[in-house]
Amino acid sequence: MIEVKDISAFEILDSRAQPTISVLLELTSGAVGKSSVPSGASTGSKEAVELRDGDPMRYAGRGVLRAVEHINGKVADPLRGRDFASLADFDEALIKIDGTANKERIGANAIIGVSMAAARAFANAERRSLWRSLTPTGVEPRLPVPHFNIINGGAHASNALDFQEFMIAPLGARNMAEAVRAGAEIYRVLRGELQSRSLSVGLGDEGGFAPEIGSPEAVLELLVDTIESAGYETSHEGVMIALDPAANGFYRDGMYHVDGEKLSSHEMVERYSEMIESYPIWSLEDGLAENDRDGWVYLTERLGEYVQLVGDDLLVTNPTIITEAIEHKMGNAALIKPNQIGTVTETLEAIRICRDAGWSQMVSHRSGETVDSFIADLAVAAGCGQIKSGAPARGERVAKYNRLIEIEATNDLPYGRAE
Ligand code: PGA
Ligand code: ZN
Repeated sequence: MIEVKDISAFEILDSRAQPTISVLLELTSGAVGKSSVPSGASTGSKEAVELRDGDPMRYAGRGVLRAVEHINGKVADPLRGRDFASLADFDEALIKIDGTANKERIGANAIIGVSMAAARAFANAERRSLWRSLTPTGVEPRLPVPHFNIINGGAHASNALDFQEFMIAPLGARNMAEAVRAGAEIYRVLRGELQSRSLSVGLGDEGGFAPEIGSPEAVLELLVDTIESAGYETSHEGVMIALDPAANGFYRDGMYHVDGEKLSSHEMVERYSEMIESYPIWSLEDGLAENDRDGWVYLTERLGEYVQLVGDDLLVTNPTIITEAIEHKMGNAALIKPNQIGTVTETLEAIRICRDAGWSQMVSHRSGETVDSFIADLAVAAGCGQIKSGAPARGERVAKYNRLIEIEATNDLPYGRAE
């Protein structure tokens, strides 16, 4: 049994100068756990509710003092002095305290912060590392292939690029350290390449470059050149490309608006099909909008055999929604973001459902981040072999990659995608 001594929270900043929550949870045994909470910009409509103050006099309404107050009162009061058998048991108590389906009463940002801090405190109490304590029975932990987002567009940049993320994935790297090296070397060559073309090397929210290029194909062309000039092969044995167009962002009136063109759902799928044939793309996330459900079924029929089709805004790490999508054959993989659902236990449940259905999973940061590296441990524990945490630049992104290097250096774990 683990007894909670105290829980407290305060308001801090995230990587976009927006307020977020930091939580400290102490156990009677003396073990403590700390967390800080990420925040998205291009969110799915069914994500658990992020509670903001709405007070225009503070942070343009983006303050989180109400969520902080909920942790310090409504959450801490009934939990102080209570015993728990496990994190699952603790998270169940959190879900009960909130009592709503989408965590709108306490705020999902408050609840996930408490749940993450508890996961850390429980691991510390067991004297185990976080990844080890989160690894479910029967799962083989592994170091995930990092997906470095090196060109940013969409809601994460002010350029004219409609697609949100162009990632490079060193699928064929020998290990984590070599994968990070590939990411950083390609990033460096890309900077030079952009400069030589007189394009901006200013950054988007996730640390990738945000040049004024409108055509996704032109970016893909640039990335292939860059990967090769950095000395890497564009293949499954070398470095592949992953896309997150985040199609919610350019879907209006039933049409996809890409680089000045208006495409129907089927035309959009054809465009992806051509891209996949012409470029070394191995994974496509949110290729279609979350409410284009027939489109998702068609996309999966058409391309599901050739490429990983990841649902992010479509699935929002929600076990019920993922179960439905599996039934309807919408996609074949899920993006996993703990703050979309609101507790670590429900996040692990979403992962389990995917694993049981033969779906892949990619653990993910948010565009608004802190240096908390929780998702690095989560990805290792999930054994899913995939993570995305932005560019190999900027402290809040690199914190996760560095934590993975640390886990590799101090443990004997396999690297790469789970087969
Ligand atoms: P977000 O974007 O964190 O701004 O929601 C990330 C993504 O779409 O994967
Ligand atoms: Zn996404």
